[in-house]
Amino acid sequence: MSIEFKVADLSLAEAGRHQIRLAEHEMPGLMALRREYGPSQPLAGARIAGSLHMTVQTAVLIETLTALGAEVRWASCNIFSTQDEAAAAVVVGNGTPQDPAGVPVFAWKNESLEEYWWTAQQILTWPEGSGGPNMILDDGGDATLLLHKGVEFEAAGAVPENPREGDADYSYEYTVILDMLRRSLAENPGKWTETAKGIRGVTEETTTGVLRLYQLAAEDKLLFPAINVNDSVTKSKFDNKYGIRHSLPDGLNRATDTLIGGKVAVICGYGDVGKGAAEALRGQGARVIVTEIDPICALQAAMDGYQVAKLESVLDQGDIFITATGNKDIIMASHMAKMKHQAIVGNVGHFDNEIDMAGLARTPGIRKVEIKPQVHEWVFDGGTGEQRSIIVLSEGRLLNLGNATGHPSFVMSNSFANQTIAQIELFTKHGKSPRDGGYANQVYVLPKVLDEKVARLHLDALGVELTELSKSQAEYLGVDVAGPFKSDHYRY
Ligand code: NAI
Repeated sequence: MSIEFKVADLSLAEAGRHQIRLAEHEMPGLMALRREYGPSQPLAGARIAGSLHMTVQTAVLIETLTALGAEVRWASCNIFSTQDEAAAAVVVGNGTPQDPAGVPVFAWKNESLEEYWWTAQQILTWPEGSGGPNMILDDGGDATLLLHKGVEFEAAGAVPENPREGDADYSYEYTVILDMLRRSLAENPGKWTETAKGIRGVTEETTTGVLRLYQLAAEDKLLFPAINVNDSVTKSKFDNKYGIRHSLPDGLNRATDTLIGGKVAVICGYGDVGKGAAEALRGQGARVIVTEIDPICALQAAMDGYQVAKLESVLDQGDIFITATGNKDIIMASHMAKMKHQAIVGNVGHFDNEIDMAGLARTPGIRKVEIKPQVHEWVFDGGTGEQRSIIVLSEGRLLNLGNATGHPSFVMSNSFANQTIAQIELFTKHGKSPRDGGYANQVYVLPKVLDEKVARLHLDALGVELTELSKSQAEYLGVDVAGPFKSDHYRY
């Protein structure tokens, strides 16, 4: 039976398969879960709509989910992050480019916003008779957002004409969503409400998506249970930090190949991602300056040896500016206008609203020159004859995925082992009351015992020798010899 898909080029599948094979070796957590759960098929009957960067590492996740029995449809959660060879290999699966037999993927590098939201719709629109999706695996919350907006507008009987107050953040992108939902409400009324009814739960990958989920839950609008994968310790304290420590310099190097050593790098936000970003650039010999709004994180940055300053104070010093806040309006056009000639500006937070690209484009006399895809020089014409420009990476979107290939396999094995366990949790516990270990329409984190399990799955590969507690030591600490070893309020 032919499968539905839309990717760049299926002839890339062989190249993708080689990379996936090498990645499997670097993803011991996912491969251990295949061995542990493959025989019992806990995801048999699961129909997962996945929205997460379509990279080589994600290919290993997808094929782990199918090895555990799931059916999957996939889209990327960013217009620039797809690795076309990985997407092709997942579609081809055990078949051939002429007769693909893998998983329906709707993702290619360099999608337009209209195409992006079309792909999001495809993963939530399963073939007639399939029963529709019953699980969501999300990164940044776009699939969850689309479904919730569809249900909201169906209940209201119409899609609003324009983005409303509070929705304005989505600006043009939100207009695209509204147009799409307007068409879908006319063509297929009730579709989103029906789809949402079938969903057993969502597992969310990142800080920004988790924030959206907690907001929905606080307003009592969350339509199904959610697991916050991001706040597993083995996710945010590893992927966000050590992942970015690897993939930020990778993105900067591939984009510009500017020497980082000796330069001044300004990192906006000193959370998990900011900490990894700062460490990476200091490791390359940059002098790093941090901006923060939270006194705790600001103090951490200072004690880690970084200058902490307001962005406005260091605009004329920075050679490289990186946003990592998960917040909006961090680097505005007025800031960029004051930067040094050929300063590099990039974002590693989830959405592009950290950098005011719209404002930059509106700057009088500004000119955009494409150096290469995802690298643009913005030339200011101050009317003085002075040539001054800045370089913006990935049009303000995640540069580590737009200009490079995202985090490496080993760290993503931790994140995706959490994703897989979270999918099994929500899928298999569906129908149980929260008193019997089931989940209500709230946001949960995985229990610590599973977090420790994910870490344990990665120790052998690194040659880690773990000390074991004696029985009397365990009693002294008040823990079990086998763990969990820390209380829930412990901060790693
Ligand atoms: P976090 O909450 O740990 O850190 C964000 C920090 O930014 C906080 O300390 C906050 O106080 C600070 N901040 C907020 N507004 C600010 C402002 N106006 N100026 C300066 N600092 C400000 O979040 P985390 O986990 O570090 O994630 C940050 C973003 O990166 C999120 O959007 C997340 O989804 C994304 N992310 C990106 C990854 C990638 O591969 N590029 C990987 C993981 C997360």
